[in-house]
Amino acid sequence: MAGGKPTSVFALHIACLLCGATLCLPTTKILVIFITNFPDYDVDGGRDLDIFDINEEAGLNLVEGDIVLDEINAKGVNLKAFEQYRLKTCIEFKPWSGEDNYISIFKGGGCFSSVGNRRVGKQRLSIGTNCDRIATIEHEFLHALGFWHEQSRADRDDYVNIMWDRISEGKEHNFNTYDDTTSSSLGVPYDYGSMMHYSKNAFLNGTEPTIVTKIPAFSDVIGQRMEFSDSDLLKLHRLYNCTQGSTFLDSCDFERENICGMIQGEGKTADWVRIAKAEGGPNTDYSNMGKCTGSGYFMHFNTSAASNGDTALLEGRILYPKRGYQCLQFFYYNSAGPSDSLKIHVREYDTSNPNGKLRLIQTIDGSPQEQWQLHHVSLDVKKKFRVVFQGTKEGSGPLAGGLSLDDINLSETTCPEFIWRVKDFANVMDNTSPNTSIFSPSFTSKEGYTFQMELYPSGKTDYPGELSAYAHLVAREGDVGQKWPCPGNR
Ligand SMILES: *[C@@H]1O[C@H](CO)[C@@H](O)[C@H](O)[C@H]1NC(C)=O
Ligand SMILES: *[C@@H]1O[C@H](CO)[C@@H](O)[C@H](O)[C@H]1NC(C)=O
Ligand SMILES: *[C@@H]1O[C@H](CO)[C@@H](O)[C@H](O)[C@H]1NC(C)=O
Ligand SMILES: *[C@@H]1O[C@H](CO)[C@@H](O)[C@H](O)[C@H]1NC(C)=O
Ligand SMILES: *[C@@H]1O[C@H](CO)[C@@H](O)[C@H](O)[C@H]1NC(C)=O
Repeated sequence: MAGGKPTSVFALHIACLLCGATLCLPTTKILVIFITNFPDYDVDGGRDLDIFDINEEAGLNLVEGDIVLDEINAKGVNLKAFEQYRLKTCIEFKPWSGEDNYISIFKGGGCFSSVGNRRVGKQRLSIGTNCDRIATIEHEFLHALGFWHEQSRADRDDYVNIMWDRISEGKEHNFNTYDDTTSSSLGVPYDYGSMMHYSKNAFLNGTEPTIVTKIPAFSDVIGQRMEFSDSDLLKLHRLYNCTQGSTFLDSCDFERENICGMIQGEGKTADWVRIAKAEGGPNTDYSNMGKCTGSGYFMHFNTSAASNGDTALLEGRILYPKRGYQCLQFFYYNSAGPSDSLKIHVREYDTSNPNGKLRLIQTIDGSPQEQWQLHHVSLDVKKKFRVVFQGTKEGSGPLAGGLSLDDINLSETTCPEFIWRVKDFANVMDNTSPNTSIFSPSFTSKEGYTFQMELYPSGKTDYPGELSAYAHLVAREGDVGQKWPCPGNR
């Protein structure tokens, strides 16, 4: 059938490459609103030795450099880490403005933080050399927010064996446990996938692992430094009573009949309908890809049944923005005619427009594509509003087909600036030999730097199996004013 096998899509988000100059933290002092009163302990005596390679390399002299105001690289990554907190939790970071207790980020000899609010006024958190990775920064802030390492939990001996005789002499204290009153598990089961878990080789002397998971399959899972695990987030949510991310506004996968409070807009001449399969495509929704029978819905405007000029308006629920900029993401499947289009509007409400006023943000046209496509649309709304999806039938089209929408998300974040889409990524991953790379199209940053991403799906010769990505600056005729190297502009 027309839709065929769904193509997997890999979107590499390069939101903040070469854009250091646009990411200026007013000050490196960050206030975290603490709510829990933790005992006055340091994790690992004040140093997060989980990031032990880095800290070991940094040597034992804790060079407490002062606050580095122009460490722009770390600044950019810090901001990205804060944005992840905003996106996924209700924790909001803001510049310090005289509060009694605050966090001061500095470039010390390693990556480390105390656990919780120690109520010392200026509480220092070090993002040293090589710590400027988003997951490392998230990890350190999890300490500051009150979390110990996962393998310090009181019940850890039920899940891992600590191989004491393989641990470097003098490092045994890193494997202490803390009872449930100090390190509450918050009712969440032991999590091998936690960002706060040490890796199997932490503090080893020799080659054999120091942490052996009781379920062998987790041996290489522990120590992940990619992103928050679901349990990391659940614990944060429980400790800070979060119900949703502080930048989250709305999302809908259309699995429920109430379609998340969305409505058919006034003035429409055709309807968006909630279906699981459309003649002419798509054959399945995006969320489930047809894997679950009896579910897997999306919204569809049947353009083949519509007359020229017909419009279908799907309007989101009323929202109240806090930040003035938003990113709308959604999946779109276009099996309609070549002149049919999807328009994204916002309907904004104020005293002079109590019933709202439509403002066009973007028109998505172009020829039909036989697959679900991820779209990002940047919004800049500052007042009460709704998002409006307007499908328009404009000309002749196929006998069956239309416009389909699924998995809509709206957050108060900036959209990724560049997206590289790799078709059938699973196949690329499976069938690319090591030391073989693929290149993205070239992208040009706001500052005029053109670059390309290079990806080794099966790793380079020395790192087989380790997917790696490189950014290449590309010189183009007509380039003016670009410098390389360009410190502070990475
Ligand atoms: C490492 O193991 C060797 C051999 O058992 C031992 O002599 C040495 O003291 C150990 N080093 C550390 C730092 O634990
Ligand atoms: C979370 O809720 C509990 C119970 O209602 C309350 O004791 C605690 O102070 C709340 N924490 C925050 C950060 O609001
Ligand atoms: C769309 O309309 C056409 C023509 O009326 C019809 O054949 C087709 O089944 C409809 N598609 C859906 C998904 O209802
Ligand atoms: C929307 O958010 C959900 C839950 O976080 C996620 O599963 C889905 O893939 C997101 N959709 C888009 C278009 O990013
Ligand atoms: C791997 O690729 C690089 C870059 O193309 C090349 O210089 C190198 O010789 C290759 N190594 C092997 C073992 O083929």
